[in-house]
Amino acid sequence: MRIIKATDYNDMSLNAAEIISEQIKYKPNSVLGLATGSTPLKTYKYLIEWYKNGDLDFSKITTFNLDEYYGLSKLDKQSYHYFMFDNLFSHININNDNIHIPDGTNKDVEQECLNYEKAILDADGIDLQLLGCGHNGHIGFNEPNEVFYTNTHLVNLEESTIQANKRFFETEEDVPRQSYTMGIKTIMQARKIIMLISGEGKKEIVKKAFFGPITPKVPASVLQLHRDFTLIVDKDAFSLCE
Ligand code: F6R
Repeated sequence: MRIIKATDYNDMSLNAAEIISEQIKYKPNSVLGLATGSTPLKTYKYLIEWYKNGDLDFSKITTFNLDEYYGLSKLDKQSYHYFMFDNLFSHININNDNIHIPDGTNKDVEQECLNYEKAILDADGIDLQLLGCGHNGHIGFNEPNEVFYTNTHLVNLEESTIQANKRFFETEEDVPRQSYTMGIKTIMQARKIIMLISGEGKKEIVKKAFFGPITPKVPASVLQLHRDFTLIVDKDAFSLCE
């Protein structure tokens, strides 16, 4: 595990965007695993800026997003499809056929999960996976559990996750209670993983996940076992670990 100690949110985002940019330049047909949420927003802004400056080309890039709310369609403003197009895909030259996000409207759960895993395999796996971290240590939407989940599956969101995500919805009742998510095994199979963590509110989970035991009760702790994992964390989030 490598740790990059960033000064602040901007520095964290710049470090992450530089790693993603190097990956794209080194392998123009890279397969990227992407995340939603507040944390990667500035990283995406840097990637868009560098694309617009002519420094980055996404035409051969393939992407797989970590998760999608169950029941929400692509057109729903709260869906992760919508988020990704709004914050990244609509601003770069990625080929729409190369974008993969679980289909929240597919009620055939088994088929959706198998399809997603197969698409990742067919793309020859994920070269670089970008992750955020929930306050409870969830990665994707792999919530704390007694066991590490394996492949893509449908998950019941924890109350704390519903509370954390309600800021994006009009009312708490509107927050979906379930989500499709890549599993821990899917994530751990990525050849390289970077996780971004920023802000005081995440200082406890940084300590638990990366300076404590590896346990499914803190899903992010499993990343300690990955052979090419980089944590990019800002000063506030790292403050209990100095
Ligand atoms: C999003 C995802 C989640 C978030 C996590 C942190 O695709 O998989 O695990 O990364 O909930 O969210 P933020 O960045 O909003 O604190």
